[in-house]
Amino acid sequence: MAPMAGCTDLPFRLIAREHGAKFCFYEMVDSNSLIYGHRETYGNLKTDKDDLPIAVQLLGSDPSGMLKAADKLLKLVKVSFLDINCACPAKKVIKKKSGAHLLRDAPRLYSILERLILELSLPVTIKIRTGFDKKDDDHIVEMAKHCEDIGVSAIFVHGRLKTQGYAGGVDYGAIKKIKEAVRIPVFGSGNIFSGEDAKLMLDETGCDGILVARGGLGNPWIFKEIEEYIDTGAAAKEISLAEKKKTLRKHLDYIDQYKSISPSGKVGFMRKVAIWYLKSIPGASDIRARITRKTKSCRDILKIVMDI
Ligand SMILES: Cc1cc2nc3c(=O)[nH]c(=O)nc-3n(C[C@H](O)[C@H](O)[C@H](O)COP(=O)(O)O)c2cc1C
Repeated sequence: MAPMAGCTDLPFRLIAREHGAKFCFYEMVDSNSLIYGHRETYGNLKTDKDDLPIAVQLLGSDPSGMLKAADKLLKLVKVSFLDINCACPAKKVIKKKSGAHLLRDAPRLYSILERLILELSLPVTIKIRTGFDKKDDDHIVEMAKHCEDIGVSAIFVHGRLKTQGYAGGVDYGAIKKIKEAVRIPVFGSGNIFSGEDAKLMLDETGCDGILVARGGLGNPWIFKEIEEYIDTGAAAKEISLAEKKKTLRKHLDYIDQYKSISPSGKVGFMRKVAIWYLKSIPGASDIRARITRKTKSCRDILKIVMDI
């Protein structure tokens, strides 16, 4: 399961794991929020004994700040590795020279990695895109090789440029070039919504593994679907409405139980999650409108869901 800020919280991860997700990430942690002790950041680090194996991803731009944040973070969580976000396209992130900005500021990325790899005693990985604003495979391959030389343990590649956001096709060719240029594991990300998409990513790039991102929102069944398709070529099973309602109910229960946010924030979050699950059923737009406009509590949301 890919890291997704605002989505891959503990309730999401528990549901994903119950449905076959093999590995998850905490939601991305901003190094400054951690250093300055923002409550929400600490809330996002909530975990559970069943929430393993797991990694954490750090966002930031300053090598000393990143190290300070990583030290703090690693006292709070037990993770398999620390990932550095070099992929986030958000304007406010780029302005602070973090996320995908690091793709056009290689010296800054290398100093962050050198500092962390020297000082920390766990594997450090990077999540990159195939470029910032123009396709330049030689540049991204050189960067990947340099990161490997510094000591990065694996590379997660979202096969789009920063300027593409989340739209358009995936550049399998660029991921393949990165995979062929390094010896460390390379994982492909982008447009994985089915078993066929997963196989296409593996076949076209030769990558060592894949990340499921938007394809897992309201669709935890995707993990088994991918596994079965790759193992046997079996077509995806239709998920019944009853199964969707049951799983959504459990997901909302987990949110109620685990998410430490204001009551109104919690209901807003539950609406978002309910809409994920119901997006492809008949009458989805009417249900979405009712959930958005007419619910003030978890019970209101459940009533609409159970009446479907
Ligand atoms: C809502 C949302 C939040 C995301 N947050 C992060 C993040 O915090 N860190 C990260 O590396 N990638 C993040 N991503 C990118 C995904 O991990 C993934 O690489 C990307 O969505 C491409 O995969 P897809 O086309 O299958 O969705 C996010 C994507 C979405 C849609």
